Amino acid sequence: MIDNKQIAGLRKTYSKETLSEDSVHPDPHEQFNIWLNEALNSGIDEPNAMTLATSSKNGTPGLRTVLLKGIASDGYIFYTNYKSSKAKDLEENPKAAIMFLWKDLERQLIVTGNVEKVSREESTQYFNSRPRESQIGSWSSEQSSEIPDRKFIEDQYESYSKKFEGKDIPLPDFWGGFKLIPEKYEFWQGRENRLHDRICYLKEPENWKIVRLSP
Ligand SMILES: Cc1cc2nc3c(=O)[nH]c(=O)nc-3n(C[C@H](O)[C@H](O)[C@H](O)COP(=O)(O)O)c2cc1C
Repeated sequence: MIDNKQIAGLRKTYSKETLSEDSVHPDPHEQFNIWLNEALNSGIDEPNAMTLATSSKNGTPGLRTVLLKGIASDGYIFYTNYKSSKAKDLEENPKAAIMFLWKDLERQLIVTGNVEKVSREESTQYFNSRPRESQIGSWSSEQSSEIPDRKFIEDQYESYSKKFEGKDIPLPDFWGGFKLIPEKYEFWQGRENRLHDRICYLKEPENWKIVRLSP
């Protein structure tokens, strides 16, 4: 039995850092890099893990964790199956958001924008850098489709292992990268008394406007 009082009573004070309009970098891409670097150097587990939120044409939301695998001058790249639920959502509606929760740093970072596929060359380059086992895994899984049981996917893996034995494994045509091109960033730093700092960057035609949001 879960004790509701126990859940309701969970409380943590945030007091590690502060964030202000004057201290952040004027370019959100640079501020993103500063925070990601601090996360990478902090020793936290999988600092590149992010929640990806999408929604279908009729507005049904979907979200899941994916790994940030590249930063381009104009966006943030992750890799997945192009027939998965998330890819179907993105085909219907390219608007999406990514969110990093760096709990140990008392930070949350949300980036919202439009998503597009990266080039086949870029996907090939990344796919070739993956461990062979992961490459076979990508071939084996029709991600997000229903399967009868665990054995089914293990048999698929076995069959692709045999098929590619002694050969280089090509990039599947149903697999590759997506890039989220930002239109809005929100940097959240936990503060005392729930008076957290929320600094937002909003894309304007020529520059980024920096605003503070109420916590
Ligand atoms: C830590 C972590 C990292 C993950 N990284 C990826 C990833 O980079 N790409 C991916 O397709 N799925 C990744 N997954 C699995 C997804 O969360 C999800 O289950 C899968 O992509 C299917 O999502 P969909 O049905 O919404 O398309 C990851 C899961 C976790 C927990």
